[in-house]
Amino acid sequence: MLRTNTCGELNKQHIGQNVTLCGWLQRSRNLGGMTFIDLRDRYGMTQLVFNMETNAAICEEARSYGREFVLQVTGKVAERSNKNLNMPTGEIEIIVDKVVVLNKAQTPPFTIEENTDGGDDIRMKYRYLDIRRNPVKEALLLRAKVAAETRTYLNLQDFVEVETPVLIKSTPEGARDFVVPSRMNAGEFYALPQSPQTFKQLLMVAGMDKYYQIVKCFRDEDLRADRQPEFTQIDCEMSFIEQEDILNMFEGMTRHLFQNVKNVDIGELPRITYAEAMRDYGNDKPDIRFEMKFVDIKSATAGKNFKVFDDAESVIAICAKGCASYTRKQLDELTEWVKRPQIGATGLVYLRFNEDGTLKSSVDKFYSEADLKVWAEKCNATPGDLILVLAGGDSRTRKAMSELRLEIGSRLGLRDKNVFKPLWVLDFPLLEYNDDAKRWHAMHHPFTAPKPEDIALLETDPGKVRANAYDMVINGVEVGGGSIRIFNKELQQKMFGILGFTPEDAQAQFGFLMNAFEFGAPPHGGIAFGFDRLCSLFGGADSIRDYIAFPKNNSGRDVMIDSPSTISDEHLKELAIRVAK
Ligand code: AMO
Repeated sequence: MLRTNTCGELNKQHIGQNVTLCGWLQRSRNLGGMTFIDLRDRYGMTQLVFNMETNAAICEEARSYGREFVLQVTGKVAERSNKNLNMPTGEIEIIVDKVVVLNKAQTPPFTIEENTDGGDDIRMKYRYLDIRRNPVKEALLLRAKVAAETRTYLNLQDFVEVETPVLIKSTPEGARDFVVPSRMNAGEFYALPQSPQTFKQLLMVAGMDKYYQIVKCFRDEDLRADRQPEFTQIDCEMSFIEQEDILNMFEGMTRHLFQNVKNVDIGELPRITYAEAMRDYGNDKPDIRFEMKFVDIKSATAGKNFKVFDDAESVIAICAKGCASYTRKQLDELTEWVKRPQIGATGLVYLRFNEDGTLKSSVDKFYSEADLKVWAEKCNATPGDLILVLAGGDSRTRKAMSELRLEIGSRLGLRDKNVFKPLWVLDFPLLEYNDDAKRWHAMHHPFTAPKPEDIALLETDPGKVRANAYDMVINGVEVGGGSIRIFNKELQQKMFGILGFTPEDAQAQFGFLMNAFEFGAPPHGGIAFGFDRLCSLFGGADSIRDYIAFPKNNSGRDVMIDSPSTISDEHLKELAIRVAK
């Protein structure tokens, strides 16, 4: 070992000991007779002292070291006269009598500190320097802790960690595949897995009973703050279970993680159906840190000659507590906000329930005070509240209101990052109709089982069939999703038929799975958690990028290694790929 201790562990108990530390030079201060250096490693920071009077040569040399030099120092632990009780090593310093420069360093392109002056691009280009910064380092340590606790829980529950291949054939999960050309099979391609879905099901047929894997998945989709082209899942599958068993097992895992990583008791998870989520929040991943549920006021607004509401399929209100004092300017600004194309509302109607009990709306022309009182009652409003109303086509209005609800929640400070409100959303529709493709798509994936009581509807009204599918949602983020699977060849064939596969296509693409179902497939089901999302949630961040050591930017590029990149003509030829020039 090049060191006796780390830079984060020495304290008063070590005073008088001779130690050797290694680390990076964080900061150097030259105070004439003395030079101080803060030495940093993964574990913390320790102050080094060089004294001109007692050791001039070494002190002179120390003054020549630049930021981020890699040093090995030997010296004696001494009590500091100027203590810093905010840091674990703040009561001591090292009186250095020997330094070895293990490596020099160029001046870094941004400061390696909590808050850096480096913009995103430059930090990504020098990600290895960015990771030296505390917040990024802490994010990676948190990630490792979440992974370790996940394994602890699942191992204790008798799950087996099994690796599945990365060079596979495409599985239809909604996104595009990344593909890899095969040199040995000219003109043919592997696909990188969007998830190990079919393999984990085959492991159930194989009798593994309880499987998990912390696994990389690849999806060629447009990127957002919570999406990366390669991301990690905690992927799980169990045999001889029902939906209830999965919910309990993974509610248990989530509780274990919160308890052991965050020291937070999340209690029992509420469960709501997809239909309830859409009705109350206009969203299948509701943020339930705050109430502000949708109120359908269509019937209370009808027949008063207000055409916008009369013509609307839906008229939906929310009650913003304590917001009656919003000024006209604020309301105008909010109206503009909902009219932005991303939100898509045509306008915003408001009703102020003033502190003095009077009611004032933007549609007073059409509605009497008595009419408005009915709205207020339906919304459970009390003096001081503001009711906001959107109207129009049902799904568009709900979507816009969902955004408005979240926005008001944020403005009212109701979305505290340190408060965690997980829930289960159950009974998703099995299928959704895609107007562009003019056919049904699986809402989760094609292997999801319909609810047995809805199977008959597959023939008559496919859109009404509910699936044994569930999502775990935390603070408005879908952190996990799964389902009970089809485990019988006939039903799986039927499902592919509904999804528009010819029997030949289905056989060519998924024959391996359907054949396996003929060799004694057990009833099974599972779930996958978005591991990066879980970590960023634990860390209180919006973006998953900081929880990934080497993430891609918004264009899917790794700017550090400059990838993707072109390959040589020779290489292309070997892969039998012709590129249009
Ligand atoms: P699903 O597609 O819902 O299910 O994915 C499971 C979870 O993975 C996370 N996730 C992502 N995280 C970061 N970047 C992405 N691009 C990304 N895409 C998804 C989400 C999501 O809830 N095989 C099924 C699971 C199953 O049925 O067992 C599956 O992959 O948090």
